[in-house]
Amino acid sequence: MNIFFEVHRDIPREGPGNNESTRKAYQLIEKYVSQPVILDIGCGPGMQTIELAGITDGKIMAADLNEDFLKVLAERAEQQGFSKKVDLQKADMRNLPFEKEQFDVIWSEGAIYIIGFEKGLKEWKRFVKQDGIVAVTEFTWLKDNAPKEARDFWDEAYPEAGTIDSNVQVAKSLGYRLIDSFVLPESAWWKDYYTPLEERLSLLRKKYKDHEDALKVISDTQQEIDLYRNYHEYYGYVFYLFQKVD
Ligand SMILES: C[S@@+](CC[C@H](N)C(=O)[O-])C[C@H]1O[C@@H](n2cnc3c(N)ncnc32)[C@H](O)[C@@H]1O
Repeated sequence: MNIFFEVHRDIPREGPGNNESTRKAYQLIEKYVSQPVILDIGCGPGMQTIELAGITDGKIMAADLNEDFLKVLAERAEQQGFSKKVDLQKADMRNLPFEKEQFDVIWSEGAIYIIGFEKGLKEWKRFVKQDGIVAVTEFTWLKDNAPKEARDFWDEAYPEAGTIDSNVQVAKSLGYRLIDSFVLPESAWWKDYYTPLEERLSLLRKKYKDHEDALKVISDTQQEIDLYRNYHEYYGYVFYLFQKVD
C-alpha cells in the first residue's frame, strides 16, 4: 500500500476542520440560497459532506480524485440515510466535468490549496451561478512574524499561502465579494485530524522501522504536527465565504 495513503486512511478527516465550523459557515451563507445544488470539491472521506447533508434542504455533488475516499463517503452517506441527497463523482479539481453555472454553492474544505487559492477561485467561478457562493477553507498566515522554523516549512510546502487580507484582495480582484470569514478553532486541527494522525504515526514507525522512504514520510508528517503544536498562533485555517458578484 502507498505509504501516504496508509498514514492517512481511516481517519475522520483529511485536513483541519470540524462540524461546528461547517455549520457556522453554512449558517452565514444560508440566506443567499434556497434548496441549493452544492458542489463539494476535494470531499475526501466527507465529514463535511455528511454534515452539510444534514443541514441543507438542497443536494450535494461530492467530487474527489481518490476513489478510496469516495467509497468511504458512499458508505457514510448510506449509513446516515443521505444516499439520495449526496451524489458522488470522481473528478479532477483542475479539470472539472461540470456545466457552466451548474451550482448554487461551491464548497471546499482543506482542498483548494491543491490547485492554489487564486487559480481555484478563478477556475471554479464559471461553475457557480451569478450571486452564488464559494465557501472554502485555506491555510492562512495569522501573524506576520512567524518563527523561522514555521516559515521555512510552510514556505516550502505552500509558498502561495497568504494572509486574510491578501486572500480577500485576491478574491475581490476575481469578481467575488466577501460575505464573512473566520479562523477555525485550534481544536479543529486536533480532534479529527492531527490526534488520530499522530496515533497512526507511532504505529507505522514501528512497522516501517527498516524502510527509509516510509520513515521519511512519517517524520515529515510528525514535523508538520509538531510545528502546529508549537506555533499555532502564527497560522491557521480560515473559512472564507465569498459571493460571485461579477
Ligand atoms: C486535505 S484533503 C481534504 C478532504 C476533506 N475536504 C476534509 O476536509 O477532510 C484534500 C482532498 O483533495 C483530494 N484531491 C487531491 N487532488 C485532487 C484533484 N486534483 N482533484 C480532486 N480532488 C483532489 C484528495 O484526495 C483529498 O481527499
